[in-house]
Amino acid sequence: MSDAFIPVNSPLLHGNEAEYLAECIRTGWISSEGPFIKRFEQAMAEAAGRRHGVAVTNGSVALDIAMHALGLEPGDEVIIPTFTIISCAAAVTRAGLVPVGVDCDPATWNMTIEGVEAAITPRTRAIMLVHIYGLPVDLEPIMKLAKARGLKVIEDAAEMHGQTYRGAPCGSFGDVSTFSFYPNKHVTTGEGGMILTDDYALAERLANLRNLCFQPQQRFIHEELGWNARMTNLQAALGVAQVERLPRTVEIKRRIGQLYDEHLADVACIRRPVARTNYADNIYWVYGVVLNNDVLFDAKEAMRRLGEKGIGTRPFFWCMHEQPVLRRMGFMLNESHPNAERIARRGFYLPSGLALTDDEIARSAEALKEILA
Ligand SMILES: Cc1ncc(COP(=O)(O)O)c(C=O)c1O
Repeated sequence: MSDAFIPVNSPLLHGNEAEYLAECIRTGWISSEGPFIKRFEQAMAEAAGRRHGVAVTNGSVALDIAMHALGLEPGDEVIIPTFTIISCAAAVTRAGLVPVGVDCDPATWNMTIEGVEAAITPRTRAIMLVHIYGLPVDLEPIMKLAKARGLKVIEDAAEMHGQTYRGAPCGSFGDVSTFSFYPNKHVTTGEGGMILTDDYALAERLANLRNLCFQPQQRFIHEELGWNARMTNLQAALGVAQVERLPRTVEIKRRIGQLYDEHLADVACIRRPVARTNYADNIYWVYGVVLNNDVLFDAKEAMRRLGEKGIGTRPFFWCMHEQPVLRRMGFMLNESHPNAERIARRGFYLPSGLALTDDEIARSAEALKEILA
């Protein structure tokens, strides 16, 4: 066994990536005008069961633009999970809307219908569904509630490429869905994101918002402020090659999850990811563990000890309702979400990248056992 440092993420770029990138260089198509953009948008839309895809520069700006495009009124409330990345709350607040947090399930780490029901007020106008770490949100009851109340739904599928909910692709739910293509994602373009919808008019609007809201008839006269969030042809070339291998990528991730499960099966003092629910099998975007209360140290200390043993880790998300920046803005002040607060302090993830070897999985699991012994 080697004892080289094991990074928390390591992408695999061994398909047609180099060939497609070389094609961009050879043809001179490196800007956002190149032909790989459309190909990538179509490939992702097809993989996610959507009609339209709009490629952008990252998953955070995808949420910003999507939230903005829904046409909600300033002060409208949007329900979000508190256990998520800041991008979700940032998109809501930047659109002039008010985030209202929901706790997570202690086992799946995802927002629940009970949480959503408790968070609804007369000002609720939308729900942001965010799938966490490899298992989707239990969508059916939340989608039903949203429909009954006429709420908009935005699905953040940033971590869910290739995942399904009761057989339907993640990224196919709600008015609009988004993906990220950061290098720890199942499809990467280095940096990148996409917004998907089935609504042609909304897709046109999203594409216009992505492109500074230039108008076809009078290019430099603007009726609205947009973003320059255009993806380059180089990134899309990577993306096309990555989507080609998505089913295989999901297989590799599932195998990583299974191997960790086998190595860690007899470790009683941690909670491992749920392997399957009645609506989905885990795709282990990352392999997270949560320390039980009988472990006398927290995630931060566990990660420090693993770092000393050459194992890269990342902390779990920190709750939105505990974010200094949001609290200073007066958001989510009176919220308390014990499940999310607990896993934020006691959860972290092990090396989970696609290039991880069996030997590295064994070493990472062994190191975790040692620090818990
Ligand atoms: C759930 C979720 N939403 C949004 C994002 C933001 O994506 P990006 O890093 O591409 O901005 C991430 C990134 O990991 C994420 O996990």
